[in-house]
Amino acid sequence: MTTFRLDGKTALVTGASQGIGEAVARRLSASGARLVLAARSTDKLEELAEELRSAGAEAMPLTLDLAAPETVEERLAGLPEPFSAIDVLVNNAGITEDKLLARMDLDAWQRVLSTNLTGAFAVTKAVCKGMMRRRWGRIISVSSVVGLMGNPGQANYAAAKAGLIGFSKSLARELAGRSITVNVIAPGYIATAMTDGLPEEAKKSLERAIPLRRLGAGDDVAWAAVYLASEEAAYVTGHVLNVSGGMYI
Ligand SMILES: NC(=O)c1ccc[n+]([C@@H]2O[C@H](COP(=O)([O-])OP(=O)(O)OC[C@H]3O[C@@H](n4cnc5c(N)ncnc54)[C@H](OP(=O)(O)O)[C@@H]3O)[C@@H](O)[C@H]2O)c1
Repeated sequence: MTTFRLDGKTALVTGASQGIGEAVARRLSASGARLVLAARSTDKLEELAEELRSAGAEAMPLTLDLAAPETVEERLAGLPEPFSAIDVLVNNAGITEDKLLARMDLDAWQRVLSTNLTGAFAVTKAVCKGMMRRRWGRIISVSSVVGLMGNPGQANYAAAKAGLIGFSKSLARELAGRSITVNVIAPGYIATAMTDGLPEEAKKSLERAIPLRRLGAGDDVAWAAVYLASEEAAYVTGHVLNVSGGMYI
């Protein structure tokens, strides 16, 4: 029996040029989905698309800057068939700009909210019309346990990540009648470029604070995305799935 297959589905992953988004894109592709790989770094996206194509999959890059949400609808409208009918959306792109509130200026607040939250709004709005017409869809947003727990120095990031949860729960209610599920993955600390900058001592102390005693890998998040994208997850909506090694329970 084959489970969690996505053959014939088209998936759009934002922030697919590296880290968690790249891992998610690779797993969705291996599960049979056709991939639209979105981010700003066109070269990296082209390289990944080429690699997926040489493994027999369908994939194309889409240069997209979520810091300019007003440009998103037009960029997505330019997708050629059969990539234009998005069945699975993974809102994964995100940035951090950490500072204690006293030192955080309005620009740093707005940059993080714009990319991490308004960007996801713009992509979701652009793709959900087609999902509604076709009466099937999966919208998965990558939040963070920080959106649930808070974290000093990350008020902008935590607000955006908590915002994604409220956004998704509302959409889950709005879109359920069209068989579109809307869920959130809340990763803990995952080893990517975003966490590479942490000092070794900080990583060690993080590992001690994680019941499963290790930082997560991109694949830990990717498997959750494959499940939530699948037909088998049809009765799961409005859910926040923590993938945190028990860091947030
Ligand atoms: N790593 C962790 O511990 C962790 C934990 C919890 C949640 N998360 C969340 O998981 C997601 C992925 O994180 P990661 O660790 O994989 O980070 P990462 O390695 O820094 O990757 C971030 C991705 O987002 C894209 N991106 C950034 N700004 C963008 C913009 N303006 N427009 C379009 N794409 C943009 C980047 O591509 P370009 O630079 O090519 O545009 C890149 O592909 C983020 O939402 C992050 O908040 C991460």
